[in-house]
Amino acid sequence: MSTVSETITVQSTPVLTLYPQTSAVPKEETENYKYAHLLPTFSSVKYPPLEPFDHVDPGQRALSHPDPRSFLKNASNVIEVQPVLGTEIEGLKLTQLSNNERDQLALFVAQRGLVVFRDQQDFIDKGVDYYREWGSHFGRLHIHPTSGHPEGAPEIHLVYRDANHTFNFEYDDSITSTVWHSDVSYELQPPGLTTFFLLAQPTTGGDTLFTSQVSALRRLSPQFVAFLRTLKAVHSGIEQADFSRSGKRGGTVRREPVEHVHPVVRKHPVTGEEALYVNKQFTRRILGLKREESEAILSFLYNHIAKGGDSQARVKWRPNTVVLWDNRITAHSAIIDYGESKERRHGARITPQAERPIPALNDLQL
Ligand SMILES: [Fe+2]
Repeated sequence: MSTVSETITVQSTPVLTLYPQTSAVPKEETENYKYAHLLPTFSSVKYPPLEPFDHVDPGQRALSHPDPRSFLKNASNVIEVQPVLGTEIEGLKLTQLSNNERDQLALFVAQRGLVVFRDQQDFIDKGVDYYREWGSHFGRLHIHPTSGHPEGAPEIHLVYRDANHTFNFEYDDSITSTVWHSDVSYELQPPGLTTFFLLAQPTTGGDTLFTSQVSALRRLSPQFVAFLRTLKAVHSGIEQADFSRSGKRGGTVRREPVEHVHPVVRKHPVTGEEALYVNKQFTRRILGLKREESEAILSFLYNHIAKGGDSQARVKWRPNTVVLWDNRITAHSAIIDYGESKERRHGARITPQAERPIPALNDLQL
């Protein structure tokens, strides 16, 4: 292994030093694995804090299009997964979308929350340079502070589990693997349109749960929603970083954890729809309330999010499926129910950041 380090520039982070890194999964265990080059690595690189940036939402550009769903014209099948969440599309190649059609897609995902594309092997096989180009169309790519990434591609967040290794955030003392969350909500500008796909999957199991935080909000009484609009909450990345510092998930923290305050009800910048924006994994407390009040309200909302089957959809992963969701208005959870099969589940996420959450209440001071 070379001991020489090199200096490169990545997105808004000014300069970083990239040290040699190797896959966390031993080579001899992956000899015949097609995507061995995309296995997680955990470098010792350190990143400075993220800088704020102006996000221009691609869905905004599609609003003025005469037919913003014209990108679907060649699809052979368009099925609504659930009334309030999710559309499944067949017969359309993401790799063939023009920039204009990508904008339409962003608007569509904002409207449907979750969009499932089948038969996208060409997308998956294009590799990290393409993944970066794809994601950059939708926003500045987020570099995860703790997760594994393909060698040389820190913008690609990986999930990985096989018979001998796990590099996911998993509670081993919980009665369920379900952990509802929206990704990295502790960032000042959390992700918007997110793309995720599996490179390897178990024969059965490993589905992903989604819920519409728009629908979850709408089910609450107007009086209670009016109160929630006045609230803001702290979201924290500290526990996630501590998980890695304890030696799990590759044991790396590349950027110091942050906490940020977000509105409990946020407004989508393109559709104007309001959505609940709390999640059990990262939201810690509601500001301005007494401890018991904060805990009671958050506990009520977490239960509502978890139990509200009428706002939820469940994605079953067929090979070559690519899923997009709008992280601003949905929450999701992995389901780790396949551990006994010893099969590999290896997923990649492309995670563009979006705007700082916009409060539904105009004059809410964050
Ligand atoms: Fe997630």
